[in-house]
Amino acid sequence: MKIAVIGTGYVGLVSGVCYAELGHEVVCVDNDSAKIEKLRRGIIPIYEPGLEEMCANLVLDGRLAFSESLQDAVEEAELVVIAVGTPPKENGEADMRYIEAVAAELGDHMNGYKVVCVKSTVPVGTNERVRELIAARYFGPFDVASLPEFLREGTAVHDTMNPDRVVIGSDSERAIALLKELHAPLTPNLFVTDIRSSEMIKYASNAFLATKISFINEIANICEKVGADVDDVAKGIGMDRRIGPSFLRAGIGYGGSCFPKDTKALIQIAGNVKYDFKLLKAVVEVNRHQRFSVIDKLEDALGSLDGMSIGVWGLAFKPDTDDVRESPAIEIVGKLIERGAKPRVYDPVAMDAFRRGHDHPAITWCGSALEAARGCEALCLLTEWREFAEADLLALEEAMNRPILVDGRNVFGGERIGSTGFSYYPVGRPVIRREKHLVRELN
Ligand code: UDX
Repeated sequence: MKIAVIGTGYVGLVSGVCYAELGHEVVCVDNDSAKIEKLRRGIIPIYEPGLEEMCANLVLDGRLAFSESLQDAVEEAELVVIAVGTPPKENGEADMRYIEAVAAELGDHMNGYKVVCVKSTVPVGTNERVRELIAARYFGPFDVASLPEFLREGTAVHDTMNPDRVVIGSDSERAIALLKELHAPLTPNLFVTDIRSSEMIKYASNAFLATKISFINEIANICEKVGADVDDVAKGIGMDRRIGPSFLRAGIGYGGSCFPKDTKALIQIAGNVKYDFKLLKAVVEVNRHQRFSVIDKLEDALGSLDGMSIGVWGLAFKPDTDDVRESPAIEIVGKLIERGAKPRVYDPVAMDAFRRGHDHPAITWCGSALEAARGCEALCLLTEWREFAEADLLALEEAMNRPILVDGRNVFGGERIGSTGFSYYPVGRPVIRREKHLVRELN
């Protein structure tokens, strides 16, 4: 199958590479010429394990190419996949300008029957809008289909090659047959529905997962007050198959390019049809507050943070990515600075990305985890990188001025901490306070 993928962001690039891996001929198109030039030279703009190597091999094999010309790619293709961005507008609504521009351009370059499918996360009704925009300029036959994407950053290739399900939304038997043929090698779970339901499935999936996270975070906050352990509570409820064990890790809340954007967009979509999505609004609100529990715990341990060196481990919104979009670390570091603290930050991969958007003279950028902790009055862990989980706690205790650890991702269990001198503040689990150590500090 000849496929044109429009947009070389996370979704477009990974989808293009995976379709080529399945044996198809794929051209990935982007109007950013510098990006296309880099991709041609094998430079991948995102940190995604395995992607660079796959890309290089597929380009060598002639199955994958990169182009600035939408026209050339589309004229050749029988399937066109739109995967351009839908960034949030001020009010949370998805900005459709890139999708609409691509649809209009497609209308100018269609030269025969093709299936045009939308992989970008788009409000209900967008595929129909794409159809209208194309049909206003091209009078031949074509079909549209919604093909929502569920990949996670950091495991994007694996998720695309091993999906739980593929959702296909279309009103055309011909388009459905083509998309079934394309995805059949990946999973037996090909779920076919109408276009609007398919568009809704993407938003509803992300909103539900975000709800699970905010739910367990609120349970964690209550656990802290009643002396229960949220990790055990999550295990206990997750064993009920109706609930399931995943996405019940308590912490400092979700970030990234999808959950924050898609939850707000769904609230807007509901609002546009005069529906007040109260539950989802609460999910967003809980998530925004959760990150500041780190600051509360630091203040509980230290009193005022003014003038204090505070170590920060992790800046990415989750491990195995350099993505800091909507990372809770942004506001946590911001709040530390606001309180007069001097953050010493370290992340194994996301330092440059964070520094580009959130540099500040009060921040010390450190070359290693131990370096960030050195001389600190307290350390907070914000991203659960493996490197942090494997840290030598005795060396860490040695390096810090006061051994106080606020663990925003519950990486260290009480057992590991028990044999050290750390005061330990996890999320929704019992706090370990070293009174002796604190008394010594006060003196
Ligand atoms: C998510 C969806 O999982 C994916 O299906 C969709 O296509 C895009 O959005 P992604 O943003 O890459 O993917 O990351 P994910 O692994 O889902 O984590 C999202 C955020 O939730 C992270 O900040 C993570 O730390 C947080 N999270 C996740 C929790 O706090 N607790 C959990 O139990 C799970």
